[in-house]
Amino acid sequence: MKGIILAGGLGTRLHPLTKVTNKHLLPIYDKPMIHYPIQTLVNAGITDILLVTGGNSAGEFLRLLGNGKEFGLQHLNYAYQEGEGGIAAALALAEYFCAGDSMCIVLGDNIIERNVVAALRAYQRQNTGAKILLKEVKDPQRFGVPVLEGDRLIRIEEKPKEPKSPYAVTGIYFFDARVFEIIKTLRPSARGELEVTDVINNYLDRGELTWDLLEGWWSDAGTFASLRLVGNLVAETGANKL
Ligand code: G1P
Repeated sequence: MKGIILAGGLGTRLHPLTKVTNKHLLPIYDKPMIHYPIQTLVNAGITDILLVTGGNSAGEFLRLLGNGKEFGLQHLNYAYQEGEGGIAAALALAEYFCAGDSMCIVLGDNIIERNVVAALRAYQRQNTGAKILLKEVKDPQRFGVPVLEGDRLIRIEEKPKEPKSPYAVTGIYFFDARVFEIIKTLRPSARGELEVTDVINNYLDRGELTWDLLEGWWSDAGTFASLRLVGNLVAETGANKL
């Protein structure tokens, strides 16, 4: 099982904070944002990790993290994303690294209170296909949102104006290596990006998608409100608890 952290992008929703630096280097309470998704993977026992970055200050990740010794890692792998292309385009850079293995992907601005150990075990039993993690939120229209019929997932809608459920698709995904073939078939969305939601819907159409609810709090940190909220959550309760 490989671990991939997607930490590129221009972070324009956080201008001017991200005008000269990368969003994932900003502080969340007492650590740089990028520390949290690395810890999420390490806590799940995943130690073969690729960090995909780009945009401003990409080189600073190497200075900050080095070989990942602080996390008990022996080495960290890096890939550089040129330009903007969306989450699925960033993930495409991990094909060589994954070399046929399944992967757990964590978006670099997704921070969790607990861990993904149970979901990882369940995915390993599933063996192929994909698994996503859902979390009930107050503002689902900001996220990928599942359309559910009872427990049955019908499809995922990306940032719907009228969300059909109160859940967000969190930025923690389990995919098998066929994801790279799926990405090659994608077309840019209205916002000009290769959307991870289209990848998920592809697995769904083939009957190869499962989902779980994520335990503990979850937040992204890509807007001023969520950045502030998650800083407070980390300060009050701590993050990445085992
Ligand atoms: C991305 C995904 C969205 C997901 C979210 C989780 O949104 O496109 O489906 O719910 O991450 O953080 P973005 O942060 O690019 O707006």
